[in-house]
Amino acid sequence: MKGGIVGVLCSALLLAVEAACAPNSDAITKVPGFKPNKWVARTWEGNNYACKCHPGDYCWPKQNHWNNLNRTVGGNLRVNLPPGAPCYNTFQGPLGTVNTYDAAKCAAVTAGFPNEQFQIELPTAGLWTYFTNDTCRPTADPTGSCTLGYYPVLYITAKTVAHIQAGINFARNNNLRLVIRNTGHDFLGRSVGWGSLVINTHSFKSISTTNNWNGPGYNGPAITVGAGVQAFEALAHLNSLSPPRIMVTGECATVGVAGGLVQGGGHGPLTNFYGFLADTAVQFKVITADGKIQTANANTNSDLFWALKGGGPAAFAVITEVTYKTFADTPSAGINLDINPATNSDPALYWEAVRKFHSYSTHFVDNGLYVYYEIGPVPNTLHVHPIVGVNKTLAQLQAVVQPLFDDLDALGVGYTTSSETYGTFYDLYNAMFEIEMAGNSALTGGWTIGRQDVINNHTAIIDAFQTVMNAGSFIVGHMWSAGHGLPQSEWAKSAINPRFRNVVDKLITIVPVSGDAPLAAKAEAQNRLTNIVDGSLRAAAPNGASYINEADPFQPDWQNAFWGTNYQRLLQIRRKYDPEGVFYAVSTPGTERWEQIETGTRLCVKL
Ligand SMILES: Cc1cc2nc3c(=O)[nH]c(=O)nc-3n(C[C@H](O)[C@H](O)[C@H](O)COP(=O)(O)OP(=O)(O)OC[C@H]3O[C@@H](n4cnc5c(N)ncnc54)[C@H](O)[C@@H]3O)c2cc1C
Ligand SMILES: *[C@@H]1O[C@H](CO)[C@@H](O)[C@H](O)[C@H]1NC(C)=O
Ligand SMILES: *[C@@H]1O[C@H](CO)[C@@H](O)[C@H](O)[C@H]1NC(C)=O
Ligand SMILES: *[C@@H]1O[C@H](CO)[C@@H](O)[C@H](O)[C@H]1NC(C)=O
Ligand SMILES: *[C@@H]1O[C@H](CO)[C@@H](O)[C@H](O)[C@H]1NC(C)=O
Repeated sequence: MKGGIVGVLCSALLLAVEAACAPNSDAITKVPGFKPNKWVARTWEGNNYACKCHPGDYCWPKQNHWNNLNRTVGGNLRVNLPPGAPCYNTFQGPLGTVNTYDAAKCAAVTAGFPNEQFQIELPTAGLWTYFTNDTCRPTADPTGSCTLGYYPVLYITAKTVAHIQAGINFARNNNLRLVIRNTGHDFLGRSVGWGSLVINTHSFKSISTTNNWNGPGYNGPAITVGAGVQAFEALAHLNSLSPPRIMVTGECATVGVAGGLVQGGGHGPLTNFYGFLADTAVQFKVITADGKIQTANANTNSDLFWALKGGGPAAFAVITEVTYKTFADTPSAGINLDINPATNSDPALYWEAVRKFHSYSTHFVDNGLYVYYEIGPVPNTLHVHPIVGVNKTLAQLQAVVQPLFDDLDALGVGYTTSSETYGTFYDLYNAMFEIEMAGNSALTGGWTIGRQDVINNHTAIIDAFQTVMNAGSFIVGHMWSAGHGLPQSEWAKSAINPRFRNVVDKLITIVPVSGDAPLAAKAEAQNRLTNIVDGSLRAAAPNGASYINEADPFQPDWQNAFWGTNYQRLLQIRRKYDPEGVFYAVSTPGTERWEQIETGTRLCVKL
């Protein structure tokens, strides 16, 4: 019987143009969710794989199937063009070659490419372009080649919950690679994907608030946001209330608050007080892999509720709406600090200053401060922008920070500093956090530093920072403690790695590398990131962990690094809600056997 099914599969494959039929593909029938004629057998580097259906495969849906889907989603299905396509004479896509040059559109995309919101509004752009493969960047030379790279093939601009359901059902029934795309901020390439169908959730912009949410596990003020709402929109809405209120968001105002952020955890300037964004979620409305609309809260689907709070993005369901706790806004103060070659020309003194600055991480978070800083990319540069004192007067903030400034003065290092006080945290957030850029290509990684590491091993930590810089990387740091204000009784209510409760600094490491660099250069950069840059931080800070949203996609021992003791439970929940692997994002629970083979293209299960 099994042989029969494989026979059907292989003969179908032989009819297909180029797909090779793997030997010993009995194992393909044991893939969860196996359906005859819906898997493609491949071999790659000596291993056998069962792959999803991609363009050109015998099982890729026919035109009339796409037309049916298009009708079901209200005509909102589109063939994807890379954002840079208007700058090229032609775009050579998997579905054919089209003329694309348009001078006005090219000028607009060239000007807009570094702008986050411009890229967010594009249906399939990845703001960090490395994982798009950079095969069609805006250019002044229209004769160059523009191909799809790792951008998706088609997308649905979902306007209703039914559109999302239709997209999930179509992807599941046809065994297509499905990508959920919200703002496209993802550092790990999870909102793009070769050969995929995208469901874009950016249009879900509803916002409502109440003073007395009355649901399982929580009674009190709350905000309910649609899947596409971004931090600046939710915060502006809360600020317009009387009295103004706030919620936990990232430091970046353009990140979505109901997509990848909450599913990865979501840390920000208020994390010292209320924990992660995930810790403040009280209810989700979602669509599961079977296409059903579900509610997840402390009573209903409570396992799914727990997993959606930090268990990994695009792993358990598609979120359509989330309800979060809100909090009273308070006066706040901020301080900036800069050391750079203009203020100090002595590299040895610079590193002594960094060592002093960083040795205060425990002191800062114990006093409720949030500190955003950058070391590099310009050598011998420390840019601390800002140190935030929520619910503190400037005098109270200065009292906490003064020992650092005394130490810097004693060292004799030059620096510049400024400070400001604001009537609300909201005003500080808008004024002090700097605008971030889109359109850069880099590999990102990261690690967090445990309180115990700062106490035990601080010399080695700063030595590791030097190793990171010498390896052509740089650091973005965020000092917070997710266990400072949130009572311990609340910690296990979300899937966040328990180790994060004792973290005092969360680092992002960045290794610039172009998405169209030669494969050998890409492999070298990946190896440098994993083994030298992040490797040195892991060794110096063994009490740390890794944050799924700001990490190396190829983080070693990722299950433990991202989720620690929560991993086994997350694995069970994944198997329950998405047994067939309808959803996929790299290094999320249950994806052990999934790989993007053939140089980051076909998504397959290893047999
Ligand atoms: C400039 C910048 C600043 C950042 N600052 C912070 C910060 O301060 N704190 C912090 O914690 N993180 C921060 N991040 C990281 C951020 O958490 C991740 O990039 C996150 O994945 C963004 O989620 P998104 O939904 O906005 O983006 P997307 O890239 O669209 O989606 C990210 C992931 O979530 C999935 N997803 C999106 N929407 C849904 C949905 N409705 N249902 C199911 N899955 C969905 C996607 O499939 C993808 O896997 C920052 C990132 C950038 C680029
Ligand atoms: C979907 O339908 C709309 C409206 O009829 C049309 O403009 C669009 O080209 C169709 N999409 C595809 C992929 O055929
Ligand atoms: C991706 O880029 C690499 C070069 O970095 C290239 O070898 C490969 O063919 C590209 N793949 C696609 C699908 O664009
Ligand atoms: C702000 O701090 C004061 C003490 O200085 C405290 O009484 C108050 O509860 C705090 N407000 C918030 C919202 O944390
Ligand atoms: C301190 O860091 C060094 C260098 O990375 C590492 O070998 C050592 O195990 C660390 N020690 C402790 C106690 O964490």
